[in-house]
Amino acid sequence: MDLMNYQAKEPFTQKHLLTLQDWSEDEILQCLSLALKIKAMQKAGQKQTCLSGKTLAMIFAKSSTRTRVSFEVGATQLGGSALFLSTADIQLGRGEPISDTAQVLSRMVDGIMIRTFKQSDLEELAKHGSIPIINGLTDEFHPCQVLADLLTIYEHKGTLKGLKLAFVGDGNNMAHSLMLGCSKLGIDVAIASPDGYKPNPTYTAWAVANAEKHGSKVTVCTDPLEACKDADVLYTDVWASMGQEGEAAQRRAAFEGVYQINDKVLEVSKPDCIFLHCLPAHRGEEVTAEVIDGPHSVIFDEAENRLHAQKAVMALLMGGGKA
Ligand code: CP
Ligand code: NVA
Repeated sequence: MDLMNYQAKEPFTQKHLLTLQDWSEDEILQCLSLALKIKAMQKAGQKQTCLSGKTLAMIFAKSSTRTRVSFEVGATQLGGSALFLSTADIQLGRGEPISDTAQVLSRMVDGIMIRTFKQSDLEELAKHGSIPIINGLTDEFHPCQVLADLLTIYEHKGTLKGLKLAFVGDGNNMAHSLMLGCSKLGIDVAIASPDGYKPNPTYTAWAVANAEKHGSKVTVCTDPLEACKDADVLYTDVWASMGQEGEAAQRRAAFEGVYQINDKVLEVSKPDCIFLHCLPAHRGEEVTAEVIDGPHSVIFDEAENRLHAQKAVMALLMGGGKA
């Protein structure tokens, strides 16, 4: 598959990126293709101007390194600018309604990226505002991360359809977005999580239906070695996500000793498998230092691709679809 020269089947019509479930396979591939072009242009020193005169508001109710830096740098590289708005400082954090915030920001900026807790807050912003809303992570989903992950998988494997991705650990926002994004592109997904921490059954059902349509498989099991058998891509994430700090001890008891990407997992996966992690990672917990710092790991390519993938998202939603 030549993703760089992907020919769109339909015009790109999405206004927002709330979840990858809202985007078609064709729209996801258009975005990845544009990300590859934008990356190549940036590396070649070619000027990018599609956000000229435009501003992205970035609302953060949770911590961030990658999302904050990649959106701000990305907006600047596209000729625009980005505003960091912590909910600790803005009136939204003191109870100003989301609907008013959406309408005020719609009069001043050209798009909103938000990292928050409830997915319904994004839907509310999208409903009351008139500008694109981009999901920078909620408790339910992390679509921008998965676009960067798909780009990284393509760069390392030269294809997407027909691969197998295994996710070991908490059935969290990453597990949900990976299931949805991969199942739309014909990538098999196998998730291994302990009972009580399996992915949300509604999102699993969406992913299973996507997979049926796109000729792939989505399975959820309890045994990491079963999930990782013959996997091309190994993925894990922290046992306790942001906002779950109070459950850390209980979660550790459920995950420790079993839900880890380690040498035993590498033995059952494909010899040329790659290891991905959205980061931040906890070495010795969900992944051993030997794996995350070893030859299969491509975590820093993956982190870099946040920049290129999100520039494509901004170009499509705010910049007319070209760099
Ligand atoms: N992966 C990711 O979203 O990282 P940050 O929390 O640093 O933004
Ligand atoms: N599941 C993690 C992802 C961080 C990028 C969290 O929500 O904290």
